[in-house]
Amino acid sequence: MALRLGDIAPDFTAESSVGTINLYDFLGDSWGVLFSHPADYTPVCTTELGRTAKLAQEFAARNTKVLALSVDDVESHKGWIQDINETQHTTVNFPIIADKDKKVAELYDMIHPNASESFTVRSLFVIGADKKVKLIISYPASTGRNFDEILRVIDSLQLTANYSVATPADWKNGEDVVVIPAIKTADIPAKFPKGFTEVKPYLRLTPQPNID
Ligand code: BEZ
Repeated sequence: MALRLGDIAPDFTAESSVGTINLYDFLGDSWGVLFSHPADYTPVCTTELGRTAKLAQEFAARNTKVLALSVDDVESHKGWIQDINETQHTTVNFPIIADKDKKVAELYDMIHPNASESFTVRSLFVIGADKKVKLIISYPASTGRNFDEILRVIDSLQLTANYSVATPADWKNGEDVVVIPAIKTADIPAKFPKGFTEVKPYLRLTPQPNID
């Protein structure tokens, strides 16, 4: 059955561009992003992996480790990484899983047969420090993902994990957040000393708690 939000991310051991890797050992206490691309030596994927490499500091600032995956082999990954580094002016510094036998792709339901029988779509999973699946997105092969949006969602997810807040439509880091409905309005001042605005009894806004 397909994975759903809140499920435990299945553990696996697989070959990768940096050797044999076990997901849980690799993640340790960090958050994770596991994302698939259809194939090596393809144009959109080349830009996506280059962009991800350039965002290394942003992922590290969010205590988040990144793993890519395709159903190509290790030698293919290694050659392609040189191309990515050359053409995208960066250094790929995260593992690319070589899922030749499609073991991980099947575990994470990354092959959507009506899109392609043999290649993974652009699946992306954010895995929390508790190993639970926090975000699932699927893009077609023809559309490169927006990695600013992925960082934005990680910010939102980590705020929810650490404070009792949610984030409104189009929220960006630094903007006001929503106090979750489970918190009674009477309890807000003690929990959110920066204050709050009650727009409606069910819509209470407060400054983002983790910034000055
Ligand atoms: C790409 O990564 O560029 C790509 C892969 C499969 C189909 C279309 C584009």
